[in-house]
Amino acid sequence: MTHNLTNTMDTAPTANRKVLTWVKQMAELCRPERIHWCDGSDAENQALCDLMVKSGTFIKLNAKKRPGCYLARSHPSDVARVEDRTFICSKTRDEAGPTNNWADPAKMKQKLLSLFKGCMKGRTMYVIPFAMGPFGSPICKIGIEISDSPYVVVSMRIMTRMGQAVLDQLGANGPFIPCLHSVGAPLKPGQADVSWPCEPDPKNKYIVHFPDEPLVWSYGSGYGGNALLGKKCLALRIASTVAKKEGWMAEHMLILCLTSPRSGGSKKHYLAAAFPSACGKTNLVMMQPTLPGWKVTALGDDIAWIRVGKDGRLYAMNPENGFFGVAPGTSMKSNPNAMITAAKNTIFTNVALTPDGDVWWEDMGVPAPVKAIDWEGQAWTPDSGRKAAHPNSRFTSPASQCPVIDPDWQNPEGVPLSAILFGGRRPGTIPLVNESFDWEHGVFMGSACGSETTAAMLGQAGVVRHDPFAMLPFCGYNMGDYFAHWLSFAQRTDRAKLPKIYFVNWFRKNGGGKWLWPGYGENSRVLKWICERAEGTGKAQKTPIGNLPTADALDLSGLNLSADSLKQLLAVDVAAWKKEVEGVAANYATLGSHLPKALNDQLDRLRKRLG
Ligand code: GTP
Ligand code: SPV
Ligand code: MN
Repeated sequence: MTHNLTNTMDTAPTANRKVLTWVKQMAELCRPERIHWCDGSDAENQALCDLMVKSGTFIKLNAKKRPGCYLARSHPSDVARVEDRTFICSKTRDEAGPTNNWADPAKMKQKLLSLFKGCMKGRTMYVIPFAMGPFGSPICKIGIEISDSPYVVVSMRIMTRMGQAVLDQLGANGPFIPCLHSVGAPLKPGQADVSWPCEPDPKNKYIVHFPDEPLVWSYGSGYGGNALLGKKCLALRIASTVAKKEGWMAEHMLILCLTSPRSGGSKKHYLAAAFPSACGKTNLVMMQPTLPGWKVTALGDDIAWIRVGKDGRLYAMNPENGFFGVAPGTSMKSNPNAMITAAKNTIFTNVALTPDGDVWWEDMGVPAPVKAIDWEGQAWTPDSGRKAAHPNSRFTSPASQCPVIDPDWQNPEGVPLSAILFGGRRPGTIPLVNESFDWEHGVFMGSACGSETTAAMLGQAGVVRHDPFAMLPFCGYNMGDYFAHWLSFAQRTDRAKLPKIYFVNWFRKNGGGKWLWPGYGENSRVLKWICERAEGTGKAQKTPIGNLPTADALDLSGLNLSADSLKQLLAVDVAAWKKEVEGVAANYATLGSHLPKALNDQLDRLRKRLG
């Protein structure tokens, strides 16, 4: 049975007047050829994949090697999030704060209305109902994305809970967050389509948030967080503003469960960790510990929604349904569980195509194919001097396919956190692991985060920038007020029930530019110490910057790490830290009166401790 791709407004599968009115208005604005209400079924998904194979957007991969998998190649202008084209249109510039691009909401709407006018001509307008979080979660949020991209539909089906069940849940009067998206490439009558339609001029791409409504409008890009509006736009930028009002947190964090071999394997610790884009969240959450008997299971690799539970502890929940993971560097050695997750029913974007219909990327752990088609669709050989896959190429896979998915990953209540980690790529200064003295000091650590930039954002990669809580590109309101919101949790619950906060750095380099720490599965040694600290057993020494493991506290059994490397990894370089403090002070200064006094106090105390 072929699936009907052309239902119209008359057959809309909802009685929700607000939905119907909004969809009708947007159709009148965007002028699509037809409207399709997505039901999320297998048949619909297959019909869309077939449609995209026909149009050239998708290449079906070898069904023996990659069953149910497709490859998409984006336009070279459309390969990552566009931070300089991302806007927070709150009523005042002050509410968005100095770390966000702000524009007056009325003026921005006018500008966007002119762009969206007729922008879907010749295309299908897809209505995509989606939920962030399992139904039944007290903080589950429903969105509806309108998009003219079938790539977005099939991606949203993996990354969110998408389809008719969401409209049913919404009922006749339920609230939803409207998210309007267009690739910005209307077709004239008879005009042939291209495989990746988008607005090629970067100045005409707009990723815009209206937090007061709330509402998201995205124009001109079809890639990742720019276009899958449930992810960064709703679940981080809009959700962070909603969370501030409702008393919870929306964070750029993985969630994992670490099971220790003690107590017959029944002792579990849940951890959340915030690292900037392409800094190892997917790696850590699917990690295979090298320490015998320890086990890591995954609950989420990118976003955590955290609230105070009935027992006063912090509970974390993953609002997503899939993984949108960085491909290059992923191998059976670095992340076997990600490789298995992406073995079937996966969309690959901007990786290379091998002659036998499989995919390949740099550092995949298998020899480069003698020849391939690179991410731009050009013939490629290992000596062509170019990368075969784009550095921000990604796989989109259902979370349920992860071999180490945690049994509680869809628990509507979430899981209680023993620890929160912050981290980033810091070649110098920052030790392997550092424990905060208390909640305020931990919030200070989060606010002081910095990391080398990566290919996940368009622009210059490899410069250290201040990235508080790994939320610089994702905080939907004034960063100073966001710090205050974090501090407020010491009043929202019993302090003793708050998780301990750590700063970790897998990316320390030696003088020769080599990693000092082996990373990946060996990171379990650091996680073990963190669990021991939560249980009150792990040994630590107080230093000016925080509690560091004593030289014998880390389990380094079977690891070939020189005494000198260990010393460097756990050293407190006072001169470098004094510089670090001034860097933080300079960033704090940009927040003006929004910076909480408690954090300035933390900075002063650190200065004094450093002498
Ligand atoms: P987003 O999806 O962009 O938010 O990022 P992510 O944090 O999930 O990124 P991901 O896990 O895909 O990061 C992958 C990059 O981090 C690759 O370049 C890896 O090689 C590198 N990486 C991950 N873990 C480690 C580690 O323990 N040590 C070192 N040196 N590199 C690591
Ligand atoms: C990130 O850049 O942090 C991502 C990828 O997780 S995207 O969804 O494109 O933002
Ligand atoms: Mn991310």
